[in-house]
Order: sequence, then structure tokens, then C-alpha cells
Amino acid sequence: MSAPFSAQPFDLVIRNANVATASDTFMADIGIRNGVIEQLGRGIAPGRKEIDAAGRTVTPGGVDGHCHLDQPMPPPARMADDFDTGTRAAACGGTTTVIPFAAQVKGQSLQAAVDDYHRRASGRAHIDYAFHLIVSDPTPDVLSRELPTLIAQGHSSFKIYMTYDDLKLDDGQILDVLETAKQHNALVMVHAENADCIEWLTRRLQAGGHTAPRFHGRSRPMLVEREATHRAIALAELVDVPILIVHVSGREAVEQIRWARAHGLNIFAETCPQYLFLSADDLGVDDNYLGAKCVCSPPPRDKANQEVIWNALIEGLFTVFSSDHAPFNYGGTHGKHPDGKEVAFPYIPNGIPGIETRMPLLYSEGVLKGRITVNKFVELTSTNAARAYGLHPRKGTVAIGADADLVIWDEREVEISNDMLHHATDYTPYAGIVLKAWPGVTLSGGDVVWDGTEFHPRPGRGRFLQCAAPTLLPKK
Ligand code: URP
Ligand code: ZN
Ligand code: ZN
Repeated sequence: MSAPFSAQPFDLVIRNANVATASDTFMADIGIRNGVIEQLGRGIAPGRKEIDAAGRTVTPGGVDGHCHLDQPMPPPARMADDFDTGTRAAACGGTTTVIPFAAQVKGQSLQAAVDDYHRRASGRAHIDYAFHLIVSDPTPDVLSRELPTLIAQGHSSFKIYMTYDDLKLDDGQILDVLETAKQHNALVMVHAENADCIEWLTRRLQAGGHTAPRFHGRSRPMLVEREATHRAIALAELVDVPILIVHVSGREAVEQIRWARAHGLNIFAETCPQYLFLSADDLGVDDNYLGAKCVCSPPPRDKANQEVIWNALIEGLFTVFSSDHAPFNYGGTHGKHPDGKEVAFPYIPNGIPGIETRMPLLYSEGVLKGRITVNKFVELTSTNAARAYGLHPRKGTVAIGADADLVIWDEREVEISNDMLHHATDYTPYAGIVLKAWPGVTLSGGDVVWDGTEFHPRPGRGRFLQCAAPTLLPKK
């Protein structure tokens, strides 16, 4: 674990770290130079600065492979977090790499979407970032020219939707996108919900006067997710290409993924904090409009399904645990309660904030409650996302040559409130949950960006990362 001797002191040494990676846990000092881990070992040479971890657990910084920041929306909706506030919140919650989405609007070129997204990110990010693409209009030019070019330029993953009028693809279009991904070694992330069933149910609910936020859940029951998950798996099998099903919410989708795995298919899956910590009750047990705060798709399910998701996480069904941070304010003009109006559920912007709470929630309720090992935690929150999106081993691990993106964990009691968070969104759905851990220090490229009390801003220090091909599968 040693590197060649250098006469210069390290820029920073973290002493007495209980380092946890996806595969190992070991005591070491960590020597950092030029933003990179240069030495791991006991009793290494001094640094110009030193931090004593005093035996605390040190993990790789989180890689949040599914979050939405400053993504253009149809008016009046507008995201509350941009690359400044979103990456600030991410860093304070232990995440050091974010991968939000450059979203193509139908009729727009993908390159135009990427150029626009670079403008939104440039000079604002406090931590490193990459872009997935959202492909909503897979024209022959997009498939044969734009996607291959953008994959080669470092966008090796893209999301497609089976729902939402302005984004959804039909099965033929999905097959075309999957084939392009296969030809160019990219990974497709699939939002699996059956659009026609949702539309049919929504029309009937509205006609019956059922417009409160809780009917969002009734318009998207588990079977619409089950059917679309099954179809996505079948389409991927036809093309013979791996896919990643995002934001899996409950038993029925889990069963489809388990079935696919049992049949030897390379189907990867993601879940998110809302499916472990929120339930259908949070959408409202009556017609209270505050349930709008928890409107996201797929919706949170019942408490029994939370257990299903925990068990699937423990058993290894999920590859990644992402936030799906989709930051809409509750108040104001552009959020869920626009200008104080109680809009019908189909008009409530979908998504909830969670970029800062993702890692502490799973560390406290997963690791410290003994449900998962710290190594599994690292795999789910960091390593596997880095692998899936072509950033490993620069990101997602603690190793010589990796970026010095690290979290030193404090085991202390923290009651979540929106006031303590660093996003710009005006609420958190996790308020009142008492956790037993929070990041004590977050380092991005060897710089302290969060010291447990204060955020250390430096907009623009975050670099754009070009993603290589996914390395989730063993090489053939
Ligand atoms: O409701 C959600 N999940 N909103 C964010 C967009 C998406 O589909 O992931
Ligand atoms: Zn989605
Ligand atoms: Zn999302």
C-alpha cells in the first residue's frame, strides 16, 4: 500500500482512519497530494495539514448517480436547486460526485441539451459532476450520430422514460435506444411505469372528483410499475443488453427483477431513500394538500413494501442507492403549491429533495442498525455508481491513485430539520427523523468542503468528469 518516496510533505494526512471500501475495512493513515490519494499505511510521513480521524470510519465520498439539478421544466414548475445549492447540499451530506441529467426536449438536439447543461453547471459546482443524458426524441440522427458522439465524449449513460407525455418512448423507440447503447457500450437507465394505465386511471380519478395529492398514489399502483418493469426487461433481453431500472419502489417490481436475475439476465436496479423512509400515508391519509410534498414517481408504497425494499437491499438485489433528488419547493410560484393554489394531483411537480440526507439515512438506519455492513453501504452509495457510470476507480473507492473524495463519519444524534440542510428547497420530507450519524468531514479532491458544522464554499472547484464505459460486468 505504499507509493514511491517523495521528499515533499503531503498536502494533507488523515491519521487513524478506519477505512471502509466496498470490499475491505482496515486501519490506515491516508496521504493526499494534489487532490489524489498517494499513500495508505500506518505511520506515514507528515502532511502540511493533518486531520486525526481518531478511529472513526472513513468511506469514499458518495457518488449520487441519480439526481436532478437545474433541469429545465415546463412552466410554471422550476427546480429550486441549481449546481451551486445542489452540490453544496450534496457535499454536506457526504456526496462528492453528482450525476444529474442533460435532458433533451422533443425536437431538440441532444448536443444542444448538453451545451445548455454545461452552461448551467459551469463555475457553480462545489464537487465533481458528470452528466447522464435523457433521450426523449431518438430520431435517426440522434441514434446514428449524436448518441455515439456524446458517448465518446463521456456521456456513457442515458435515461429513458416509459411515462410522462413529454418524455416517454414507445417500445420501438426503446429498442432503438437499447441497440445503440449495446453498439457503443453505454448503460440505459429506465423509468418503468405504464403511461397508458396511469393516464386512464388519472382520467377516472379526476372525473370522480378525486384530485387530492394522495390520489397520485392511486393513479400509479404497483402493477403499472410491475408491467413496465417486465416490459423493459423483455426489451433488454431481446436486444441482449444490460439495463438499470431506476427508483424501484416495492414488491411487484422487485419480483420482476428477481425473476430476470434468476434467468441470467443482466438487469441492474436502483432504489432510493423515499422507498425506505416514506410511505403512502405521507401522501395523505385524507385530502390534506401537504401530501404534495411527497408526490414522486413511482409513489411511496405501504409500510410492508418498505420492508420488501430493505430486504432486497440486504440481499443484494439493488446495485445502487441514489437520491433521485428532484427539488421543487412547496411554496412560491414554481413548486407544488403554486401561488398558494391546491392544484389537482396530475399538476403537482413530481419529485422530492434528498441529496443531503441520502448517505446519513442509510448509514444510520442501515449500517448502525446492523441491517447492512459498512462495506455494503459503500458499494451501494458510491462504488457501484462509479462502476455503472464509468468513473471507477478514480471515484468510488479509497485507493492509491483515486481522487481524495472522502467522508469521516461522526456517530452523533441528529434530528433532521430543513433548517440544518443546505439545499435551496423549502422543505425536507424527512423532517423529524432522528439519526445516529452524520458526515463529520467531507473532502473533495483533498479539500475540506464540509467540516461537520460549516460548509466551505468554492463554486467552480467541481470539475466536469467524462465517463468511460460501465464496468459493472466482469470482462468477457
Ligand atoms: O418523481 C420523480 N421521481 N421525479 C424525478 C424525475 C424522475 O422520474 O426520476
Ligand atoms: Zn424517473
Ligand atoms: Zn429522477
